[in-house]
Amino acid sequence: MWHRNLFSGMSDYFSCVCFCLNRYGGLFRTNLLGQPVIVSTDPELCHFILQQERLFQSWYPETIAKIFGRQNLGLLPAPTYKYAKSLVMNIFGMESMKEKLLPQVDNLAYRYLCSWSKKPSIELKEAIASMIFDLTAKKLISYDPTKSTDNLRKNFDAFTAGLVSFPVDIPGTTYHTCLKGRKAAMKTLEKMLQERRASPTRRHGDFFDYVLDELKKEGNLLTEEIALDLIFVLLFASYETTTLTLTLVVKFLTDNPKVLERLTEEHEEILRMREDPDSGITWKEYKSMKFTAQVLNETSRLANVAPGIFRKAFQDFTTKDGYTIPAGWAIMVCPPAVHLNPATYEDPLAFNPWRWEGTDTRGGSNDFLAFGGGMRYCVGADFSKLQMTVFVHHLVTKYRWTAIKGGEILRRPGLGFPNGFHIQLFEK
Ligand code: HEM
Ligand SMILES: *[C@@H]1O[C@H](CO)[C@@H](O)[C@H](O)[C@H]1NC(C)=O
Repeated sequence: MWHRNLFSGMSDYFSCVCFCLNRYGGLFRTNLLGQPVIVSTDPELCHFILQQERLFQSWYPETIAKIFGRQNLGLLPAPTYKYAKSLVMNIFGMESMKEKLLPQVDNLAYRYLCSWSKKPSIELKEAIASMIFDLTAKKLISYDPTKSTDNLRKNFDAFTAGLVSFPVDIPGTTYHTCLKGRKAAMKTLEKMLQERRASPTRRHGDFFDYVLDELKKEGNLLTEEIALDLIFVLLFASYETTTLTLTLVVKFLTDNPKVLERLTEEHEEILRMREDPDSGITWKEYKSMKFTAQVLNETSRLANVAPGIFRKAFQDFTTKDGYTIPAGWAIMVCPPAVHLNPATYEDPLAFNPWRWEGTDTRGGSNDFLAFGGGMRYCVGADFSKLQMTVFVHHLVTKYRWTAIKGGEILRRPGLGFPNGFHIQLFEK
């Protein structure tokens, strides 16, 4: 069974969370990344904490703040935060997705898959990583990896590991590599800013242009530091998260032929119903891909890309079980504990997209925190779903594939493929 495989590398962190889930009634105190933190594993309380931005403020451990920058979205005061978020929604919001991103993502997935199918074997995670990064970096800063000497993407590769590593900043540690990545990436971004300042009339049509225009406005909340930290966070947040989840989707499809069959049916039906056979995916078609959405929910539930979401208690807070969280204390909401809770998800380790049937009419849920919740719900959730859905559409309608080697999954605690996942694609 794949899920035994999936959890074979389960770290102490997860054993601890699962253990505490049973033992302490959903709330316990521990030390994480060198800081005392109260961990919440109770679905209802987790949901509540994320909803109550005034009681529980966005906060990161010092080590993570250092990597993301002090002026990053998560640490900005409320008015600046709202303003920065509106800038982001301008490129990753619904309007932009319908008008611009859908055709771009469609074209990109088509081209990448086509080029992979000409190779005897590809390492899927690396291949998907370059596809996702190329698009996002192009939208954000017009970065073109083929024309650039600095490999920007490399700077982000140790990131997920670095965020949850022990914060010792000496050469050789994961944390050190991660900080070095931050410095190098920021240097590239600063250099770009200078270049753009030097030739202000040249337009690139990207997020950077737009941010520079904003910087020029009088009485603006935006500063250069905020702008650069924002671009940095977006490059990071949009890259490893979607890459890991999408690689896992293909892994699950490989191991679950019934799911693949049902998914293929959904997408072939869309092709059959298409009026203009030469047109790309339309928004209406995208929205009709219901089973695909279930597969993505189920994969995100198991992937647990965000092993923890941090907050700080603004005032004393007493839970309904009578525990008090004192003002000033750090709290970690623990999505994996919620997602793997057998009281909510029957046979929680099984990959079963059908468990989501009918949920799309039920609306939001306490039991799904893959993209966070409340005011800070992931701004890229819809964009990431779009990218994954469109990719899956091309994959299952045009290709078959076989696993060649790798594909073992390890949790540390972020999900990873220690030996990669090598596959070969064949045109159908
Ligand atoms: C599978 C893919 C993704 C997962 C699992 C994911 C997960 C999350 C989670 C759990 C949060 C909440 C953090 C918190 O409450 O403190 C978050 C926030 C955020 N995400 Fe994502 N994300 C994904 C894709 C993306 C993409 C594609 C983008 C950018 C286009 C993005 C940009 C952001 C940003 C900017 C925030 C901060 C929002 C805020 O503070 O208001 N994410 N994400
Ligand atoms: C995916 O999960 C979210 C949150 O529970 C839910 O609102 C949505 O309807 C789900 N989508 C599908 C297709 O099951």
